[in-house]
Amino acid sequence: MDHSSFLTGLQTPYYLLDEQAIVDNLTRIDRLCRLSGAKALLALKCFATWGVFDAMRPYLHGTTSSSLFEVRLGKEKFGGETHAYSVAYAAHEIDEALSYADKIIFNSFNQLHVFKDKAKTAGVPVGLRLNPNVSNSSFIIADPARPFSRLGEHDVAKILDVCDDISGVMIHYNCENDDFAAFSKTLDDIETKFADVFACLEWVSLGGGIHFIGDEYPLESLAQRLKDFSERHGVQVYLEPGEAAVHNGAALVTTVLDTLHNGKNLAVVDASIEAHMLDLLIYRSPAPLVSINHQTLNLSENVSDGSTIIYGKSCLAGDIFGEYQLGALKQPLAIGDQVAFGNAAAYTMVKKNWFNGVDMPSIVIKKLDGTISIQRTFDYDDYKDSLS
Ligand SMILES: Cc1ncc(COP(=O)(O)O)c(C=O)c1O
Repeated sequence: MDHSSFLTGLQTPYYLLDEQAIVDNLTRIDRLCRLSGAKALLALKCFATWGVFDAMRPYLHGTTSSSLFEVRLGKEKFGGETHAYSVAYAAHEIDEALSYADKIIFNSFNQLHVFKDKAKTAGVPVGLRLNPNVSNSSFIIADPARPFSRLGEHDVAKILDVCDDISGVMIHYNCENDDFAAFSKTLDDIETKFADVFACLEWVSLGGGIHFIGDEYPLESLAQRLKDFSERHGVQVYLEPGEAAVHNGAALVTTVLDTLHNGKNLAVVDASIEAHMLDLLIYRSPAPLVSINHQTLNLSENVSDGSTIIYGKSCLAGDIFGEYQLGALKQPLAIGDQVAFGNAAAYTMVKKNWFNGVDMPSIVIKKLDGTISIQRTFDYDDYKDSLS
């Protein structure tokens, strides 16, 4: 994103979405699909800011979801193929979910047995989530193959018993995996384990979590691997990119409200990591500092050896965006400085909350044609209405 273009005069905090940065990712996804024959569905759990869907739609085949509301949003705001999935549907949700879905994927045998007839009556093809008990996730909290995982069925004999009820499966087992060799190796294991299951099916979704948008990622090799998989098993492959679709697609723009010194330089900004970039707190990752006062910073300046700590304004003691080495700047952060954190699209806007009643960042979009649209602002009534 071109951080020099941050707006002066616009009230912070705000999320600034950059349609061009998102389209750059999607162009790569589109290329992967063309080379491999796979179809790509945006994972709404990662990103559901529908104000930029018009720019995204041409590059993707549709959306996939993790709840009734997401599948509805996918149908209403994105279109294309709309996959419905939920860890567990409630009985009162299923008819409505089916009314939006082009395919529905159940998480367990129980859910499949209870709802498959409704899906059949509605004419919606049915899938089952499989758990291969292997993964490429280094975070236990995000690892579908964690011990005693509830995410999908794993017993091949029992899965073969329900093959007549399903036309496809979904296997999500990667997390920000940027290692093609590791991906391919794990897929080998999955193919060995589920070859007989795949033989009964028309489609296989390999979920999300493949970080193939870096320039150095061997996209052609991945495409060939997916094509081989598809041809070997006679299935349509789906991918469910979330993070890869919107990586670096937004920044959270904030203003320094106060500074203190307590062993280190401290700055407090008008946003909160717990409320506005919660995923980073969960994964204990610093927010990438991408610009100060409209001056773009190199990522190499983002060394976390901590001369300055940037705090959020909630009362959580550890509401810390990160510790930054700001030696490259001539002077410490000062009240009124504008500070922007990058990579604020994936798993960020979907998790924002009203903790502490902190101002909700506005949603601002830098359109493909370069114009700026203030898409949404929030006020006290939004906070109040979210509670009773
Ligand atoms: C079933 C499923 N599909 C797709 C995704 C998207 O993954 P990512 O954003 O890492 O690409 C997830 C993420 O948790 C998922 O659980």
